[in-house]
Amino acid sequence: MARRPMMAANWKMNKLLGEARDYVEQLLPRIEGAEGVDVAIFATFTSLGELVRLTQGTPVVAGAQNFYYEDSGAFTGEVSAPMLEDVGAGAVIVGHSERREIFGETDETVGRKAARAVSAGILPVVCVGETKEERDAGSMWEKVSGQVRAVFEHLDAGEIGGEAIVFAYEPVWAIGTGETATPEDAQDAIGRLRGLLGEFGGEDFAGEVRILYGGSIKPGNVNDIMAQRDVDGGLVGGASLEAESFAELVNGASNAKED
Ligand code: 13P
Repeated sequence: MARRPMMAANWKMNKLLGEARDYVEQLLPRIEGAEGVDVAIFATFTSLGELVRLTQGTPVVAGAQNFYYEDSGAFTGEVSAPMLEDVGAGAVIVGHSERREIFGETDETVGRKAARAVSAGILPVVCVGETKEERDAGSMWEKVSGQVRAVFEHLDAGEIGGEAIVFAYEPVWAIGTGETATPEDAQDAIGRLRGLLGEFGGEDFAGEVRILYGGSIKPGNVNDIMAQRDVDGGLVGGASLEAESFAELVNGASNAKED
């Protein structure tokens, strides 16, 4: 079964309301011709509601960058899955390396969040990836496979179907550095990740789950990355902040996987 490519903008901690409005206004006409690709924008909580409103009736899915797996209660500063549903978010990033490294998220919390998002019908984009030290030490796969295994301690792959979850392989050393993994490195890690998914949900499941690459994607390298067999799209930081360059990436992803 062919997987539908996805191009996703992670705005990180950027964009005021007015900037979000201008961006969507500039983006929509530029991606009108992009067929066969899912487009998502992951916004801050303060602009998420506005983004949902602006993208209603368009192919763009509005998503959050994080949430907490409990539904309500004494968790000051947190936002729950029912709150994301309430505001109209269709997707959520889980376990971004910045959450893991700066805010101390663990494999355990990432697993719980992924499971809660799936049960709420919100598409989780679960991020995994190794640091430079881990790659240099030859432990890339140990790190990445451990992160993936932790997710399936909380989630029954046999029950959910491969379209209920997305993974993003984001090597930490390639994020915001301008240093992109080679297309072969991306394929190597993502191909192995897909193989591992088969252990949890069988071959059909593994063949359905979309796996994105993230880390210094830009219009100049998107085609080579998208050309890799197991790479189904991108999760983009810096190059997603301007509507024009994100539109190029969306159109690139649409063309890349056309048969
Ligand atoms: P950059 O595209 O800025 O490297 O960021 C990647 C990323 O972290 C997306 O989640």
